[in-house]
Amino acid sequence: MKPKVYITRRIPEQALEVIGGRCEYRMWDKEDEAVPRDVLESEVQDVDGIFSLLTERIDERLLDLAPKLKVVANMAVGYDNIDVAACARRGIVVTNTPGVLTETTADLAFALMMAAARRVTESERFLREGKWRTWSPMLLTGVDVYGATLGIIGLGRIGQAVARRARGFSMRVLYTSGSPHPELEAELGVERRSLEGLLRESDFVSIHVPLTEKTRGMIGRRELALMKPTAVLVNTSRGAVLSEQDLIEALREKRIFAAGLDVFETEPLPQDSPLLELGNVVLLPHIGSASIGTRTKMAVMAADNLVRVLSGKEPLNPVTL
Ligand code: GLV
Repeated sequence: MKPKVYITRRIPEQALEVIGGRCEYRMWDKEDEAVPRDVLESEVQDVDGIFSLLTERIDERLLDLAPKLKVVANMAVGYDNIDVAACARRGIVVTNTPGVLTETTADLAFALMMAAARRVTESERFLREGKWRTWSPMLLTGVDVYGATLGIIGLGRIGQAVARRARGFSMRVLYTSGSPHPELEAELGVERRSLEGLLRESDFVSIHVPLTEKTRGMIGRRELALMKPTAVLVNTSRGAVLSEQDLIEALREKRIFAAGLDVFETEPLPQDSPLLELGNVVLLPHIGSASIGTRTKMAVMAADNLVRVLSGKEPLNPVTL
């Protein structure tokens, strides 16, 4: 008998073929709507595997409802949506999709830096709204990226990829990390700082840590107050690493120059969020890894991990505690 799998969203055909070859699957066959919790809870009861997205909370309660579950394959590098400890206690393997999205996400972090610094989306709105009357010397002026100091919080795969890009812009690059990385310092020309030191010295700050109990809320009022009034903050990691309320106040009072956000404390961003009222923030709907090629690779990678575990093999990308 083939193992049973639940897929929580319509995924690319290539990934479905991988799963369909070895498993019997049911799928929440919608592209733009997350599976409702009650549907998820009833669908998982007889499954051996779940193909999940970051929109699904795989918590103790859900695991209780899925006694046969052996693997949760998340189509994301981040896995803060999954209670990994609870899975480990039950012998359920959790997998993620590291590596394939590194460069694509670093591209977007850079795009946000540039867009926020040079007021790209604000300028486009200005033009579309018919406000462009004439060229004028200080109209929509921003801050320079070239030659500035970039502070990278978390020098993992994506942080390193952002550092590499920064070299092309002749930026000085600082980083924070739990431990020093002398080899990377030599290779990338980056310098380690304390978080406080990095926030004080940087013209751009880009966040590249996973969301854990340690990083939750790590950038708040106190940290924002250390930043330069001309600095730009970019977040492509997880919204909850940053206190959104404290950032809103800093942006409103122009205590920093601008921000670029791809992730939020609540996703989708509520339509009454004060962020939507602010001109000095670029807002994107969590598209860090959203190139056609990368999203396809992520789906196939998650499918491969799922099928490997259900075939009694080691997964390629296990998440460990
Ligand atoms: C996306 O946010 C991911 O973690 O892959």
